[in-house]
Amino acid sequence: MCSRCVALVVLVVALGCARETPHPISNTDALPDGAAADRVIELVARTPYLATYPCGAQCHDERVPDPTRRELVTFHAARRIAHGPAIHWCDDCHSITEPDHLVSLDGQNAISFDHSDELCGQCHGERHADWSEGMHGLSTGGWRGTVRRRTCTACHDPHAPEHIQLEALAPPRLDPRLAPEAR
Ligand code: HEC
Ligand code: HEC
Ligand code: HEC
Repeated sequence: MCSRCVALVVLVVALGCARETPHPISNTDALPDGAAADRVIELVARTPYLATYPCGAQCHDERVPDPTRRELVTFHAARRIAHGPAIHWCDDCHSITEPDHLVSLDGQNAISFDHSDELCGQCHGERHADWSEGMHGLSTGGWRGTVRRRTCTACHDPHAPEHIQLEALAPPRLDPRLAPEAR
């Protein structure tokens, strides 16, 4: 190998090592050369939108957990679980021991409310894979720099995720300043 090639290889390896992996969902393989270097995928946090969070400090630290399936009358009375045949009760998703966290199906891993996609991805693997590639859901930003990605619950109610019915809206108003043939 010529000395210039060696220098190039060393440079590439050094740059590669210096680059931090921003988040495991980042998929940069499909991007043009160079674009991947500046790309950081940031999940938009959910917890600021959850009125009852932190669940522990606000309530559950003081309460003895009761995982019995029952009609809830005092708190969360309006909560309805209608989510396929595999999900039956709160503790399928919410951790009993760590009320500020969700929990994996095998009960082994606490999952942050800000990363609920990890919960959903256990069953909706294909959608999760599409979402990780930016093909499902919503990401804002460009090919370079910071991409802000919404997690599943920004759009789907985890408790009763009935099919989203989108209403067709009227087309945008045509710009009257344009020549008629360009409108
Ligand atoms: C399929 C998984 C799943 C099940 C089952 C589930 N939850 Fe949740 N829950 C979530 C996720 C995920 C969030 C975070 C929602 C978000 O990011 O907007 C959440 C948020 C909440 C919140 C706070 C936000 C809100 O919507 O008010 C409450 C309260 C709650 N759940 C109560 C319950 C109760 C009570 C049950 C059982 C009757 C239950 N959940 C069952 C997944 C689940
Ligand atoms: C334990 C497995 C499991 C987990 C975890 C799970 N789901 Fe589901 N989900 C299902 C099943 C099963 C269905 C029903 C599929 C059907 O009826 O065809 C479903 C249905 C759905 C639907 C379609 C509803 C409809 O009526 O078309 C959406 C949207 C959805 N889930 C989103 C989510 C989101 C968001 C999360 C994470 C908060 C999640 N799911 C977590 C198993 C799961
Ligand atoms: C920006 C909003 C948005 C986000 C974020 C989002 N979805 Fe969706 N999702 C939709 C819309 C709209 C549909 C219906 C159109 C379609 O099928 O693509 C849908 C459809 C689905 C369906 C099929 C429902 C059906 O009735 O067939 C599943 C399952 C699903 N999403 C799961 C997920 C999961 C899991 C995530 C996170 C990894 C996620 N979604 C993130 C908007 C979103």
